[in-house]
Amino acid sequence: MLTTEENERLTRVGPGTPMGNLLRRYWMPIMPSSELDRKAVPRRLLGEDLVVFRDGDGVVGVVEKHCPHRRADLSVAVVEQSGIRCGYHGWRFVQDGRCVEQPAEPRLNPTMRIGAYPAQELGGLVFVYMGPLPAPLLPRFDMFVWGDVLRDIGQARLDFNWLQAMENSVDPYHVEWLHAHFMNFWRRLDGTEEVEILAKKHARVGFDPFEYGIIKRRVLVGQTEEDDDWKVGHPLVFPLMLRVGGGGVDQFQIRVPIDDTTTWHIWYTTYRPEGALLPAQPVVPSYEVPLRDAQGNWILDFADGQDIAAWAGQGPIADRTKEHLGASDRGVVMFRQMLRDQLDRVEAGLDPLGVVRDADINARIDLPMEKDKYGDSKAFVRQLLTSQAIRYSPQQPLLYSLFGYGDAAAVRDW
Ligand code: FES
Ligand SMILES: [Fe+2]
Repeated sequence: MLTTEENERLTRVGPGTPMGNLLRRYWMPIMPSSELDRKAVPRRLLGEDLVVFRDGDGVVGVVEKHCPHRRADLSVAVVEQSGIRCGYHGWRFVQDGRCVEQPAEPRLNPTMRIGAYPAQELGGLVFVYMGPLPAPLLPRFDMFVWGDVLRDIGQARLDFNWLQAMENSVDPYHVEWLHAHFMNFWRRLDGTEEVEILAKKHARVGFDPFEYGIIKRRVLVGQTEEDDDWKVGHPLVFPLMLRVGGGGVDQFQIRVPIDDTTTWHIWYTTYRPEGALLPAQPVVPSYEVPLRDAQGNWILDFADGQDIAAWAGQGPIADRTKEHLGASDRGVVMFRQMLRDQLDRVEAGLDPLGVVRDADINARIDLPMEKDKYGDSKAFVRQLLTSQAIRYSPQQPLLYSLFGYGDAAAVRDW
């Protein structure tokens, strides 16, 4: 249970808030690269309205929404060979925020600037850094830089605070209940195939802090500490990512705060089916994950739909003054303490956990990740492809056959 003040401190992300200051120390995704063509795109992040563009030279930029001249919306703009030109009176800005043309003025005011943030592309995502300079390096986590995989990017907009999704990342017990007990209750009502793999009971769970967050471990009934699920585990990558996967599928679930009560959820997935020849993939495709059916009801026959319905049920910002934590919430307690510790570091003028400034370390950052998942990777991957957000990927039928499950058409009934 938290006090109202503690709950506010841990959840609110706007400019000048403690958590807003902490999150601004990390590079975060702002949109899929595939959705950025020659037009400027409005996006909101950490409570700030921004505009993203890629100019004719191929350089991405992120600037504030309003032109400093007379406050026009810079998503109504001409993207130039270099920089972006406000649609209203033609002021042109380059990626570092300098205004380099004011065509209707007798002379250029060289001090004129627009708010601008460093931006970079990696692995099919545009990332932005909104914190104090000098910016740290954009972490080159393994999945973003692997060369021999297929990728895709699922996304959904959630109407609640980011912390509810992140707390779920350190809550292993919900898997056997929400994604098995409830899943199968729901599927029995529907008359669809029940799932088995996630019904395995947890005998033991463990959480170990490491240099990029928290390693999660589990021993399922029938397993030992020699199994990958305990011995290797998988990480919560502080502060906004969960890494899951196994059997040739790896996934970052990234929870990007648009503002205090809106979250952009990303399923960034890589696929490496053993022995398969992969087609070239010049552009990483993105897709929407539907959350509600035509009647406006939650879609509850897949794991991510269940998670999101559960998190949404906690409210726009969960009222943690009214909760009753138990022993099974140990991971949640550790994550909240990690957030508090890192808030303190930022307030003391230090870099928080996982900020990378060493180019050698950043050549590629390999994260610990179990390969043999739940003692049956084959069944686990099939579960991912049919009962998780990636079932909505345009690549799903191809992936289903590349992973050796046969003709996908038979399972595409959602
Ligand atoms: S409002 Fe942008 S140039 Fe005038
Ligand atoms: Fe879940």
